Amino acid sequence: MVKIKIDGLEYDVNEKKNLIDAAKDVGVEIPYFCYHPALTVVGMCRMCLIEIEGVPRLQAACNTPVKEGLSIITQSDRVKEGRAGTMEFLLANHPLDCPVCDKAGECQLQDNAFGSGSGRSRFEFEKRNIPQEEIGTNLIINHNRCIVCYRCVRFEEEKVGESNLGLFERGYHSIIGLAKNEPINHNYQGALADICPVGALLNHETLFKSRVWWYNTHESICHGCSTGCNVQANVRDNKMYRYMVKENFEQEMYFLCDKGRFDLDWMNENRLLSYMENGKETISTQVFDKLISEINSSSSIAILGGAHETNESLAELLTLVKSKKNIIWEARVTDPQYKDTEQVDFLLTKDYHPNTRGATDLGLTTSNGINGIIHDFNSKKIDLLFIIKEAIPEGIDSSRLSKVVLLDTNVTDDLTKVGYAVPIQIFAEQGGSFTNKNGLRQNFDKSLKPVQGLLNTSEFFKKIIDPIKKQEEALVHGNY
Ligand code: SF4
Ligand code: SF4
Ligand code: FES
Repeated sequence: MVKIKIDGLEYDVNEKKNLIDAAKDVGVEIPYFCYHPALTVVGMCRMCLIEIEGVPRLQAACNTPVKEGLSIITQSDRVKEGRAGTMEFLLANHPLDCPVCDKAGECQLQDNAFGSGSGRSRFEFEKRNIPQEEIGTNLIINHNRCIVCYRCVRFEEEKVGESNLGLFERGYHSIIGLAKNEPINHNYQGALADICPVGALLNHETLFKSRVWWYNTHESICHGCSTGCNVQANVRDNKMYRYMVKENFEQEMYFLCDKGRFDLDWMNENRLLSYMENGKETISTQVFDKLISEINSSSSIAILGGAHETNESLAELLTLVKSKKNIIWEARVTDPQYKDTEQVDFLLTKDYHPNTRGATDLGLTTSNGINGIIHDFNSKKIDLLFIIKEAIPEGIDSSRLSKVVLLDTNVTDDLTKVGYAVPIQIFAEQGGSFTNKNGLRQNFDKSLKPVQGLLNTSEFFKKIIDPIKKQEEALVHGNY
């Protein structure tokens, strides 16, 4: 930590942070556009102007390192005039189309115009009008809204490792465009729209779905892989509409990939809400009764899966399972779960489970892994197999499927093939924590209300194991 003065007051700030972020930490907002904590500093927009004592001209805060004894002024008339001038230039060509722009409500141009703009324009000429373009499989650019902050170009080059976008022409004619003759097709088109500080880059996937002020926002963790990116879950009418990144400075998490960001429909649609027996809908109590008697007549039972479950649900379930000696549990059902982390790109991993690490830390593994369980189930060493939110593994003998209990959140073809199907809550309906690939345990809020009566996985197992425990206790005490 170092001591700096901001507007005459002394603060201890983190010297590793940029001046904009260091000031934000102590409650002083310096407006900006082109600065991003995870990208190189280019000082292009001139929005972050400040005065530095002893320096005659206004300076850009984004490229001023924090150092002991620095004294800056963020609120003088000179600073305000400088920022108002920047806003006037940026708005000269910017259309006044906030009512039809998806960024409205979370747009830095709106915020900075409100906080630092003069509130009037002297621009009397016709604004430039360039047609909107499709530049990606899920990306549109509205050139008229672009303020040429260069964030998109830097993000692609520095993080994605591709150079699809470039800045062409000069001055009034400056335009962000495709550097190649092909649309962008990478896993970070959502991140491009996210980091664009205005509504110039937009995704088809979310276009015109909702105004942002209609969302209820909950802090959550992406379910898409073992990286565990921090998200703001935007919910409306109890439907998951959108994931936006929740920046986490300590963990250097600033972006989301498209695989996680846009994989939300399954939470809202095609949900499994009925219990099933041999492919036909039935009532829950009938399934509970049948499973109690199946468990009673089984000498060995296995559970497969669980790496989509929260740590809390797994721990509760483990306590239940431990009380029955004849149950084994293997949480790893795919190859990447057995290996050290393999990255697909700079964020996404090959393990599409959010909580493999949480499950393995709890010891939910077996010495022979999934293959051992398939072998023992097919050869009837295991009598009953529970599968938690996974496809029926390849290699399972189809004549044994009547002894499979599939717990799932969504309707799949597999449900009609097994003996019993059980609907369960999704993680967002519970809250709790996931442990990511690095062993970082991260809590998340409950974002959605579950359908009334829908149980989570541990509640379901409690329904079938508790009565058995009671029967066993009664037998021990001789009054059954
Ligand atoms: S498209 Fe958006 S991110 Fe890219 S330069 Fe323009 S304003 Fe900046
Ligand atoms: S990298 Fe993984 S956790 Fe992060 S957004 Fe993508 S799928 Fe979600
Ligand atoms: S944020 Fe400093 S110049 Fe753009």
